Amino acid sequence: MKEAPKIDVITIFPQMLRGFTEESILKRAVQKGLVGFRMVDPRAFTTDRHATVDDRPYGGGPGMVMKPDPMFAAVESVRTPAARVILMTPQGRRFDQALAQTLSNEQHLIFVCGHYEGVDERIRTGLATDEISIGDYVLTNGTLAAAVVIDAVVRLLPGVLGAEDSAADDSFSCGLLEYPQYTRPAEFRGMKVPDVLISGNHEEIARWRDEQARLRTETRRPDLLERKKP
Ligand SMILES: C[S@@+](CC[C@H](N)C(=O)[O-])C[C@H]1O[C@@H](n2cnc3c(N)ncnc32)[C@H](O)[C@@H]1O
Repeated sequence: MKEAPKIDVITIFPQMLRGFTEESILKRAVQKGLVGFRMVDPRAFTTDRHATVDDRPYGGGPGMVMKPDPMFAAVESVRTPAARVILMTPQGRRFDQALAQTLSNEQHLIFVCGHYEGVDERIRTGLATDEISIGDYVLTNGTLAAAVVIDAVVRLLPGVLGAEDSAADDSFSCGLLEYPQYTRPAEFRGMKVPDVLISGNHEEIARWRDEQARLRTETRRPDLLERKKP
């Protein structure tokens, strides 16, 4: 049987991720043995009394830069030959559903999370196999960014979502935004659920959802339709 994928997160803030991996769908995925998580703190790989992981930038300037030695040692303590070592950085490839799908097929992902002004360039050139950004804005730390990527990847692993919670219709999965969803009550504060959804006619419902998905995509994200064109 194929081994469950492993996810290691190299971070000086392991607590930031604990709550996230110990709740809800991620927690159940771990309990079912569908994925394994480890947090690795680069401070554990320092040799000085203060467990120093950062230093002033060569050439001067504001802020501190994460040192290469504890980061390399932390990654090397868990790295396997198949591992993708992903540096979280606002300068990386923009994360999207297609990349989440690709990463969900990997056996071992190692996320390297920066802090302060960022990481020593040798971590990028000598350690990372990939660089991912979650968007054009700057966070204080890569741990939250890694959590976003991990969440999107883990929910695509086989068995993580039940059939009733399938990712197949999700926005972006088929190049469109998802159709509008409704639940009970059928009328709330004068706002009614479309008749077709209560009709019980599955063909009609499927047609309506398809139309709505196209309409939404056309009005909100026409760029997605452009990309979908053959
Ligand atoms: C303050 S940022 C450093 C930004 C860096 N000085 C720059 O301008 O490219 C600190 C860390 O947060 C993480 N980070 C910040 N924004 C991010 C984003 N949009 N996507 C992924 N990681 C991000 C990275 O790990 C980065 O090393």
